[in-house]
Order: sequence, then structure tokens, then C-alpha cells
Amino acid sequence: MQDDLPPFKSRYPALVVESFLDQELYNKLEVHFKEILSFSPTNSFGQAHRENVIVTERNLENYRGLFDECVGDLFRFLDDEHFKKYLARQLAGRDKRASDSDKIYEELRTCDVEVAFAVAGSGYENPFHVDTAKRFIHGLIYFKTHNYTGGELELALPKNQDWSECDQIPFLSALDETHIVAPIDNLGVVVLSTPNSYHRGCKTEGERLFVYFAYNSSRIGLWRKNASFANPLNFTVGRFKQKHPLIFGLLGRRIVERLTRAAQRSGR
Ligand SMILES: [Fe+2]
Repeated sequence: MQDDLPPFKSRYPALVVESFLDQELYNKLEVHFKEILSFSPTNSFGQAHRENVIVTERNLENYRGLFDECVGDLFRFLDDEHFKKYLARQLAGRDKRASDSDKIYEELRTCDVEVAFAVAGSGYENPFHVDTAKRFIHGLIYFKTHNYTGGELELALPKNQDWSECDQIPFLSALDETHIVAPIDNLGVVVLSTPNSYHRGCKTEGERLFVYFAYNSSRIGLWRKNASFANPLNFTVGRFKQKHPLIFGLLGRRIVERLTRAAQRSGR
């Protein structure tokens, strides 16, 4: 991991790490990826063209052997000294969760960890957004990147540095610099979730396999936030807002929600 980060990365709370997993672990997961996806019913969580198998206590038995062998090792990076330092630096002085980095790190350790094996198909795309306020950290690891094109993770910073002004799904005009992370096998991206950690999955053509992970606090909100977090737009409406800002402004949220629901029902 780098100590001297280029300007965007030093301001955006994320780590981009090549060879994220030990090669041996990556190889095992790559071989078993489809097998893991087949163990349990998948869930789209309302996202079009994406299916996930969440590792939970309930379905853990289905792949206990695999979990013990490799999935449990996914979180070795938490013990990485560079990661700890980076996390502390990102939070220092600008996050009200805690002023003491050791305390932050302890809190991270008590979070619920959510791991999903995910497959996104052609057409998968989401708008720039910030995750739920109970999320502390989220990230992904890319697999089998030769099977698709697109599927980049795009990161963005808002123009407004006042977090209370940041919408969960913003207009594109509210964003400043963006940075694209292109998929590479075993590349990991870890994002510290804050009210300004905007990110989106770019359009994919082909089958995109990735492991998604998140650390969720049992506390409802980890940071002060804009009112939009209390009643989030769904991703379809969010994409509309970002692609057609003038029409969105003109019609208003409620009408756009009704129109996109009707368009989805008619299969458009
Ligand atoms: Fe997200």
C-alpha cells in the first residue's frame, strides 16, 4: 500500500490495493466462485442485473468447508499496519464518530461483517451514491476480469465540503473530481463510508464476478447526514436524476418515481 497518495486518493477515503488477497487464496476463491453462488438462493437487493449470495450464519453450513478454508481469511487486511494508519489519517479531525483512532479501530472490530459473492450481468450500472449511514466500510475484490468489459468503480468527491449539504444520490453537477478504478484480477478497493464518499459501478458488458464486503455498525447512524439519507432514492430513480437533471428538477421526485415504476412494469 502506498504512503504517498496522489491528490485524489489522499482526499478520497479509499484504498486501492493490487494483489489484495494472497494468490493462493485468490485462486481457491476463483475456482469455487460459481460453486458458492449455487449454494444459496440469490438476492438482488433491488439492484437490476445483479445477484448476490450473502454469507450469513443461516447459510454458512452450506459451505462451511470452503468458508473455513478460504473465506474466513478474507479479512486479514484488517491487521495490516498501513491500513490502520490510513484509516486513522482519513478520519482524523474530520469525522465526528470518534477523535481517537484506536477507538475507531475498536469500533470497526465490533461491526457486523457482511460478505457477498456477487455476479453482475450486462446492463449493471448504478448512480453515484453514498451507502447507508450505518455502514462503516465497504469494498470489493474483482475476479475473472477477462470475462467482461466495463464494470469499473468510479469514485467522486463533492464540490461542497459541508457534509450536511451532501445528498445521498447527488446531481452530477454537485461533484468535482472523479477517479476510475479499472477492474484487475485480485484488485481490492476499500472505501471508508462517509457522507462524501461517492462511488458508482459503471456499466458492464459480460459477467462481472466480485466479492463485496461491508462493515455495518448496529448503531443506526454513524455520522451527521443530509436529510436525503432518511428517505433514499432507489438506484433507478437515482440514475434518472443524474442522466436527466433538468427533467428530474422539473417533474420532482414523486412523479419520476411513478414514471420509472411504470416503465419497469412495462419492461422498458
Ligand atoms: Fe455503494
